[in-house]
Amino acid sequence: MDLIIRNGLIVSHLGRTEGDIAVKDGKIVAVGDIGNVTAKTEIDAKGKIVIPGGIDTHTHHENAFQGCVGGDDFYTGSVAAACGGTTTMMDFSITPHDEMPFEFAKSRIKKALDRGIAIDFSFHCCLTQVNEDILRDIKAVIDLGLASFKVFMIYRKEGQMLNDGELMALLEEATKHGGLVGVHAENADIAEYRVEKYLAEGKRDWNIHALCKPNVVEYEAINRAALLASELGTGIQIFHMSTKEGAEILMKAKEDGKPVYAETCAHYLRLTDDVYDREDGYLFLISPPLRKKADQEKLWEAIKKRAIYTTGSDHAPFTRAEKEMRLKKDANGKLIPDFTAVANGAPGIELKLPTLINGVSEGRITWEDLVFVNSYAAARIFGMYPKKGEIIEGADADIVIVDSGREVEITGPEVLHMHCDHTPYEGLKFKGWPEMTILRGKIIVKNGEFVGQRGYGEFVKRKIDPEVLKTSSWK
Ligand code: URP
Ligand code: ZN
Ligand code: ZN
Repeated sequence: MDLIIRNGLIVSHLGRTEGDIAVKDGKIVAVGDIGNVTAKTEIDAKGKIVIPGGIDTHTHHENAFQGCVGGDDFYTGSVAAACGGTTTMMDFSITPHDEMPFEFAKSRIKKALDRGIAIDFSFHCCLTQVNEDILRDIKAVIDLGLASFKVFMIYRKEGQMLNDGELMALLEEATKHGGLVGVHAENADIAEYRVEKYLAEGKRDWNIHALCKPNVVEYEAINRAALLASELGTGIQIFHMSTKEGAEILMKAKEDGKPVYAETCAHYLRLTDDVYDREDGYLFLISPPLRKKADQEKLWEAIKKRAIYTTGSDHAPFTRAEKEMRLKKDANGKLIPDFTAVANGAPGIELKLPTLINGVSEGRITWEDLVFVNSYAAARIFGMYPKKGEIIEGADADIVIVDSGREVEITGPEVLHMHCDHTPYEGLKFKGWPEMTILRGKIIVKNGEFVGQRGYGEFVKRKIDPEVLKTSSWK
C-alpha cells in the first residue's frame, strides 16, 4: 500500500466504525479490517475522527462580481481550502454578457489549472442572461461536466437577473439534458421597493441592507423556483439559504421526497445580523444578509433532519480596499455608510468545515450529519459520487483527520491561509479542528500547514444521477 491510516474513528453519513484505511494509487482499497498489510506511510489516527474530504459547493475565484475579484487566486484559495479540510471546491463560471457559456467554462477550467490549483475542483455554470444562442449551448456545458447551473433571481439593475420566464426556459433546456438548475433566491421586486423607500428617507446605514431583504424576500423566491421546477418534474438547487422559513420549506420537501435541494453557508450558521450595527458592518455585507439567532437554530435543525444537503463558504475574498472602493469618506477620513455602494461578498473558505465541527462539539449535529452535509450529499447531488463524498472502497482517497479536542481562536486574518485582509470570524473560537488533509492519497496538509503541491488539483467532470432529479428519497 502507499498509505495506511490506522485506528481512527471512520465516519460515513450512515454510521461509524473504528478501524484502518488502506490507500493505493490515490484510491481507497480497503476500509475497517484491512488485513495484514503495510505501507510506505502509516498514520496513527487513534483518538481522532476520520471523515471524507470536504466539498465546498460555493466559492468565487478570479471571476469579477460587482467589480471585485478578491485577494485570492485559484492557488491561494485552494491552499486555504485544503487547510480547512476541503479537498474539492465548486466554483462558479459567471458568464459575462459578451461570452458564450461553453467557451467561457472551458476558459475557467484552464485558468484554474494554469494557476496551479492545489485541490480538485468543478464549476457551476452561472448565467446572467438567457437567449436562443445560450440555450443552444446548455447541452455542451453539461457534456463538459458542469452539470449544474446558477442564476440570479435578483440584481436586475446590475443586468444579472433572470425573470421567471427565462428561468423556466433554462429549466426546460437543462432538464432535457440532465442538468440541475440552482437559484440565488431573492425576490427582486420587494428588495428594490425597500431600497427605494429607504433611500428616499435618506437611510443608507449598513443595517438597512438587511431591512431591504427581510426573510420573505428569500422564502418567496424559494417557493417560486421550487414550483417552477416541480411543474417540469425536475429538481432545483437553492444556493446559500439563510432563513428559518426557507429551512421549513426544505424540511417539508424532504418529508415529501421532493427534489428541492439547499445549500447553507458557514456564516449563516455562526454569525448574526447584529454585525451590521458595527462601524465595519460593510465587511459583512452579503446577500442574502446575515439573519437572526432563530434562523440559525432552524438551519441547524434542518441539517440534523438532512433537509439541508450541502454547505459552502461562499468565499468571495473581496479585500477591504475592494469593499470600500465606491464609498466616500468624511473630512476626518471616516467612511460614510452607503449600503448600496458595497460589493456583496465575504471571505470564509478555511472555516466551512471548522464551523460544522464546532456544531458537533456543541451537540447540534452528529459526525454522521456532518459527513452528509460536508461531503456525501454534495457528491451525490452534483454527480461526483462514488468518486467523491465517502470513505469507501474504490473512491478517491480524499480524507480529513480531525482533532475533536483542539481549540482554535481566530484572532484575525493572519491566522488563516487566504489572501484577504479581514475575516468575518475574527474573535470567534472553534472547538475541533482538521489537522491533516489527504487528497487522492497525498498528504496536502499536516498539523494545519499546507505541504501539498501547486498544480496537484484536477478538474472533476460531473454527471448527475437522473434519480436525484426525480426524488430526494435516496439515502
Ligand atoms: O453576497 C454574496 N453572496 N456574494 C457572492 C455572490 C453570490 O451571490 O453568491
Ligand atoms: Zn448568490
Ligand atoms: Zn456566492
